[in-house]
Amino acid sequence: MLAVAKLQHDFGVEVCGVDLSTAMNDETFSEIESAFFAGQLMVFCDQRLSPAQFHSFAKRFGPPEPHVIDQFHHPACSDILVLSNVNKNGSPTGLADAGTYFHTDYSYLDVPARCTMLYSIVVPRIGGDTLFANQYAAYDDLSASMKTLIENLVGLHHYGNRDDVDEASRTVASVLNDKQKNRLNWVRHRIARAHPVTGRKALYAVSGSSFGIEGMPDNEAVALLDELKAHATQPKYIYSLKYGVGSLVIWDNASLLHSATLIDPNDARTLWRITIKEPGSHA
Ligand code: SIN
Repeated sequence: MLAVAKLQHDFGVEVCGVDLSTAMNDETFSEIESAFFAGQLMVFCDQRLSPAQFHSFAKRFGPPEPHVIDQFHHPACSDILVLSNVNKNGSPTGLADAGTYFHTDYSYLDVPARCTMLYSIVVPRIGGDTLFANQYAAYDDLSASMKTLIENLVGLHHYGNRDDVDEASRTVASVLNDKQKNRLNWVRHRIARAHPVTGRKALYAVSGSSFGIEGMPDNEAVALLDELKAHATQPKYIYSLKYGVGSLVIWDNASLLHSATLIDPNDARTLWRITIKEPGSHA
């Protein structure tokens, strides 16, 4: 029986007493998967994982999708993206600021991310938390008239941060080269989206990659998305997750927004990230 403790009252769980470097039977994994979709955010502390062990656990959740930023794939495993602000011989060893604004992973792809996993290697002296905002609760709390208004609306998504498109800024989406930009198109996702596993409705990616709404003039669409974002990112929906060395964190992209936080670029922080795609597309 899995030992699961709540992180706070409405979402987030910590699993104790599991060593993810060893083989796991289907029964244990199934308990972990159920607890994950119920808890939305899952933390395992004090893990010691090689790239292969991290990858092998991640694959149990579905197919990994390598990040479009391919220059920071881990040399031993291209499904692992290295997030790091550490430079070696004057060159970056990873992606330094990976999404310091609320977003949902791969919402700029037709088939978006089911879950993302971060495995923490180096923890900064100050800060370095990731913020998570509960989009089930944000949807549930909308007024009946807003729920009716957005019921059939489809958001138009593209890689980027609607609030900051200045490529010189730290809060822009990580900058792509021309070849990487050319691999991406506009995609559609419902704003009030039924979770592909639980069926429960959540607000979906109202911050980040959503730049418009199908059939709506741009100024009206952005005003509505901004209103939904302001609602969905209120402090009452947010949990701030602190990492220890060896923390392995998994989050549910269909029911949470998340944001990295800005830290001193000279305070070393390194994590490995694997993102798992949803099995199909839904808009
Ligand atoms: C991410 O958005 O994947 C990165 C989160 C973080 O670095 O805190």
